[in-house]
Amino acid sequence: MNDVIKALKERRSIRSFKSEMPSKEDIKQIIEAGLYAASGKGQQAAIILAVTNKELRTKLSQINCTIGGFKEGMDPFYGAPVILIVLANKNWPTHVYDGSLVMDNMMLAAHSLGLGSIWIHRAKETFEKSEYQQLLKDLGVEGEWEGIGNCAIGYIDGGIPRAVARKDNRVFWVE
Ligand SMILES: Cc1cc2nc3c(=O)[nH]c(=O)nc-3n(C[C@H](O)[C@H](O)[C@H](O)COP(=O)(O)O)c2cc1C
Repeated sequence: MNDVIKALKERRSIRSFKSEMPSKEDIKQIIEAGLYAASGKGQQAAIILAVTNKELRTKLSQINCTIGGFKEGMDPFYGAPVILIVLANKNWPTHVYDGSLVMDNMMLAAHSLGLGSIWIHRAKETFEKSEYQQLLKDLGVEGEWEGIGNCAIGYIDGGIPRAVARKDNRVFWVE
């Protein structure tokens, strides 16, 4: 098995992170891997909002918790200090697919660097809120953007979980 396939098979969603911030170099490499994802018609219709700011990270956690209807105080990001939010141009037909590939590239890049990651949902609902639309505007991001996913990144607290067995009967050959 080559290294890429090994990483694809060994990456798992991490649900316990240390609070220590990964190096900016590592974060940048993960982001760059995301930017190299395939995209419909090569339009690169997804963008990444890289949040390492503790205050904003806490607010995002709180809003995510509220949207999810979770118990107050629960951190849906499992303590991860870095949240890479993928948003994609609402008016581009493949935007959800494009953004999803960015998410996957980043999770795999994190794994390859020895960091943990997990896709956390509810970015769509978060960025439908006026406060977060305003945040984008304040950052100079014009246009209409849909939140695709929150990629939570950090050092793993504990081990990498084992993959569950793959379900049977998911491949249909025509030879
Ligand atoms: C679209 C999507 C949304 C997800 N949202 C969440 C989430 O909000 N919270 C969470 O704990 N895991 C979330 N996950 C992680 C999945 O639960 C996880 O990928 C799945 O259990 C398989 O585990 P694995 O990633 O280790 O293979 C999400 C995954 C995807 C692809």
